[in-house]
Amino acid sequence: MSTSTHNSNAATAEDFASGFRKLNKRSEAERGGPAPEQVKGAVSEIYNGVASWSTKGDFWNWGMHDERVLAEIRELVPDFDRYDTDGLSEQLYFQALREIPIPLDGYAGKGVLEVGSGLGEGLNFLSRLVNASQIIGLDLSRAATDRANARLSRVDRLSFVQGDAEDLPFPDGEFDVVINVESSHNYPDLGGFLDEAARVLKPGGYLSHVDLFIDQSHARLTQLKQQDRAFEWAEEVDITEPVRAAIRKRLVPGSFYRQNFSSKKLSVKTRIMMGRGGSHLAGADFVGHRDWLDQVLEATRIRPKRTQQSYHSYRQNIARKRS
Ligand SMILES: C[S@@+](CC[C@H](N)C(=O)[O-])C[C@H]1O[C@@H](n2cnc3c(N)ncnc32)[C@H](O)[C@@H]1O
Repeated sequence: MSTSTHNSNAATAEDFASGFRKLNKRSEAERGGPAPEQVKGAVSEIYNGVASWSTKGDFWNWGMHDERVLAEIRELVPDFDRYDTDGLSEQLYFQALREIPIPLDGYAGKGVLEVGSGLGEGLNFLSRLVNASQIIGLDLSRAATDRANARLSRVDRLSFVQGDAEDLPFPDGEFDVVINVESSHNYPDLGGFLDEAARVLKPGGYLSHVDLFIDQSHARLTQLKQQDRAFEWAEEVDITEPVRAAIRKRLVPGSFYRQNFSSKKLSVKTRIMMGRGGSHLAGADFVGHRDWLDQVLEATRIRPKRTQQSYHSYRQNIARKRS
């Protein structure tokens, strides 16, 4: 995970530290293995902590940079990247949307669900581009969905609910589109999420899945796609290089990203816990690196060490629910 930080914020990072200590204790007591509930408990505590020091405008993804994508967004919202953002996370969200074979002006009357919506900024951005009648973000972290509702919700159009990707609190066939951005690598059961996405989609509805992969998780997704009966899968799109390009931009000294991360008043302890003094947030290339959350889960023995652990690619998959 990366956090794109937009404003300075007084520290509430000790919440994060205390969540971390609790996790450690709990996992010491339960060394039997990574029960899914334990992984989810850890993930939600960690993101609740991150939400407590995040500020309006923050995304929790690496972003991407592609001149064509940038030009397309600027056509729709001139200067979208001029004020209080570097525009890179918005590009990633636009990528999630633009590959879905529904024209941007074809969303009237449609329902869109984002699973793993974080602070809601990505969905809020997309809600400016399409005229869907109902747009809902769901996240495991209650602090994230509370913040998103307080800051971004719009009556009857955009709202956020706390919930689990593997057990979606919606009736069958409720949505036309489900999007999922840099979130599913946290789910204990990717297949469970895909089943739920298929269930809540209408026949003919689309899933746009965007995430980063290690060998194991990519093999798992490939296997699930082969076995899957609910979806027809389009050809996978590799967006590793555009994501790396965004990270390079964020690494430049004096970048918007660096300035805003360094303005966060995080305690030294939090920076250390988050890895190399927080340097991964200052833009370490994700390829060849390990996810910080994964490292926390392993350090607290909630998740066993994986054999091949470095990320190698960032990919997008579009699936259409069979009619
Ligand atoms: C790296 S963040 C990405 C957030 C957002 N999509 C963005 O790009 O800013 C991963 C998100 O997935 C959420 N998440 C992890 N496991 C989840 C689960 N089982 N169900 C729903 N959300 C989950 C986390 O709480 C977190 O907000």
